[in-house]
Amino acid sequence: MKFSLTCISLFLVSVTASSDLSFTLEKNSHYKPNAKRAVLRANAKYSSKPFATNHDNSSNTMSALKTGSVSVVDHLYDIEYYGTVKVGNPPQKFKVNFDTGSSDFWIASTICSTCKSHTRYNATESTTYKKDGRRWEIQYGDGSHANGILGRDTINLGGIMIKNQTFGLAKLQSQSFAADPVDGLLGLGFNKITTVKGVQTPMDNMISKKLIKSPIFGVHLGKAIKNGGGEFLFGGYNKKKFKGSLVTIPVDNSAGFWGVDVDSIKMGTKKVHGSFKGILDTGTTLLVFPDSIARKLAKAYKASDNMDGTFTISCDASKLKPLMFSMNGKTFKVPSDSLIFERNDTYCVAGFGYSHLDFSIIGDTFLKNNYVVYNQKVPNVRIAASIDQ
Ligand SMILES: *[C@@H]1O[C@H](CO)[C@@H](O)[C@H](O)[C@H]1NC(C)=O
Ligand SMILES: *[C@@H]1O[C@H](CO)[C@@H](O)[C@H](O)[C@H]1NC(C)=O
Ligand SMILES: *[C@@H]1O[C@H](CO)[C@@H](O)[C@H](O)[C@H]1NC(C)=O
Ligand SMILES: *[C@@H]1O[C@H](CO)[C@@H](O)[C@H](O)[C@H]1NC(C)=O
Repeated sequence: MKFSLTCISLFLVSVTASSDLSFTLEKNSHYKPNAKRAVLRANAKYSSKPFATNHDNSSNTMSALKTGSVSVVDHLYDIEYYGTVKVGNPPQKFKVNFDTGSSDFWIASTICSTCKSHTRYNATESTTYKKDGRRWEIQYGDGSHANGILGRDTINLGGIMIKNQTFGLAKLQSQSFAADPVDGLLGLGFNKITTVKGVQTPMDNMISKKLIKSPIFGVHLGKAIKNGGGEFLFGGYNKKKFKGSLVTIPVDNSAGFWGVDVDSIKMGTKKVHGSFKGILDTGTTLLVFPDSIARKLAKAYKASDNMDGTFTISCDASKLKPLMFSMNGKTFKVPSDSLIFERNDTYCVAGFGYSHLDFSIIGDTFLKNNYVVYNQKVPNVRIAASIDQ
């Protein structure tokens, strides 16, 4: 399709996070499918460590209602976030990308010959594995894809045991996944967009089986410049990970996503664009706007179009004003440090890009600066400035 970020992975070899920190970026083919994945899927649809301050201590006794925390690794330079999920009995451990922009849960499996660089789930070794046998397939417009069969097993999500969870055992993974550190994806979108109709997501099951005390999950995505990390807290949220109070924003899930209305975006105090629709997507690295909005934003920030969905922006963060999002009468900030996504001494790629979609993808550039509590039941989100902002 249209939204290609291939070039970044080819030329940004050395990344300097701050004057005294230098990372070497491996040729990262994930970056492309990561951003692209959500865009393409979206396009198709439209056209462990608990820090919980609200922990339920009685959780291990009579009450089944509790919270489960999964710490995530901030891969390279805030490119993606992944945490560990255990599947089966005895438990097999997998690295998964927790993705609010999709709804399928799938992992590499031993029936997959193209998944050799990953940990593969071996159904034969799990006493709790149940065969389902239906086929699943995720197809991305850039040619990347994964497919396999569905199965069911117990999954352990931060200590919460979800029995009989349906998931995809990958039988085939296209090459773009091979270089990716994750063994699979765990979708946290709504079940309307599971690729096999009627499959209940892990969140659905945790709610219906009353395994969590609230139908919510709180997400902290760290920033590499602030020691990275992050946390997905299922059933609660972590007050230590945000500043001030949470602001409620209505969610439109009619398309299966965490859809929000943005009233306006501003560069500092200067309005750049009025209202538009966006989806909150932990699985997309950048802010991805429709061309019309992106063009205005690029003009305001004096960023130049790289003709591949990305922009080159000034490397001097002190000259960049923060990008402000107004939602439901409140303002949320993306500070200037996050408007520069990748850099070398002379060349910087912006934290925002564009696609030909008619809605915006509010990805990690925003979400690593703002703590979000996703409530699947209402549905709504509550947002506050992250401690890392
Ligand atoms: C920075 O990246 C640009 C674009 O790839 C390249 O032309 C330039 O030589 C790089 N500069 C340094 C110092 O690595
Ligand atoms: C519950 O957990 C909190 C946080 O770990 C702790 O401070 C508190 O003492 C615990 N309360 C009970 C009743 O165990
Ligand atoms: C899966 O587990 C079974 C039983 O332990 C074993 O015989 C088989 O070799 C394993 N498969 C792979 C591909 O590791
Ligand atoms: C497990 O899930 C399947 C598919 O949703 C369902 O048909 C089956 O009844 C469930 N089994 C148990 C024991 O809950």
